[in-house]
Amino acid sequence: MALRMASRSLLRMRSPSALACGARRFEGSSSIKEYEFIKVETKGKTGVITMDRAKTYNALCNGMIVELCTAVTAFDEDPAVGAIVITGGDKVFAAGADITEMVGLSFSDCYNQDKFKDWAALTRVRKPLIAAVNGYALGGGCELAMMCDIILAGDDAKFGQPEINLGVIPGWGGTQRLVRAVGKSKAMEMVLTGSMIDAKRANWDGLVSRVVEPEKVVETAVALGNKIASMSRPSVLMAKEAVNSAYELTLTEGLHVERRMFHSLFATEDQKEGMAAFLEKRKPEWTHK
Ligand code: HXC
Repeated sequence: MALRMASRSLLRMRSPSALACGARRFEGSSSIKEYEFIKVETKGKTGVITMDRAKTYNALCNGMIVELCTAVTAFDEDPAVGAIVITGGDKVFAAGADITEMVGLSFSDCYNQDKFKDWAALTRVRKPLIAAVNGYALGGGCELAMMCDIILAGDDAKFGQPEINLGVIPGWGGTQRLVRAVGKSKAMEMVLTGSMIDAKRANWDGLVSRVVEPEKVVETAVALGNKIASMSRPSVLMAKEAVNSAYELTLTEGLHVERRMFHSLFATEDQKEGMAAFLEKRKPEWTHK
């Protein structure tokens, strides 16, 4: 049901251009039977979305973007899910936007249809998003990882914004989020040269939160998702909102938002339960209220 509602609302938002690829088959349909470009499953309380276009290194075609947004929105609306993992599996995260779909576009194709605006659905998600990255996360793939709240990387991961090699620049937030993640000088070098950084450097630079063995990335991300999902839901949602405010607000404004959110959590049953459980030396039983 949640999936159906999410797909309907996305269909309402979607531009005709975004329907160019596999998404066309959703038109007029009231439900989605299966996805074409991704696999979706639930592990414990974590929703797991695996991009599944191995032959093209998970190049992000329009259809995959729509499916990702649909699946993420559905998990966001599902009360049984507390966190969401996005991965490309063991070999590759995503090698960027699908160049075959972009090569023939004109300026007016891009501008008049505000092409690629559908990604906004991902940044509206309230539950924590975890990117589990193995192999290449390039261009739009790196930008997708940076749209997530936490990036976990396998030690074979490679991050880069190689758009300059194609005669363009990042278009899904790379010039903005990379600067915030690693600072201007490092971001500038990556964006201007298209050079990649490995997982060790990405960890050192603060782009990723942790590096683990490639075969453990997804299970580590799921374990992290389940740990987050085991917390009180209002606290998790507010914590994410408060941290993300740091990107948008001045320090004074951000501290104000944080204080008000902190105050408001005292209206929840979970605050009473969490503090009582601590004092009674027992585990809290969250009601998410
Ligand atoms: C379409 C892609 C692709 C992409 C790889 N492939 N990346 N197809 N779009 N982004 C395809 C290749 O054409 C090839 O198909 C197959 O995947 C395997 O790729 P190879 O190049 O043969 O593999 P390898 O030599 O191992 O090199 C891997 C790679 C390289 C380093 C990832 O493929 C690469 O540089 N890819 C492009 C990365 C890139 O420039 N990304 C930014 C895209 S622009 P065939 O059929 O030949 O087997 C972007 C903008 C986002 O992301 C913002 C938009 C608004």
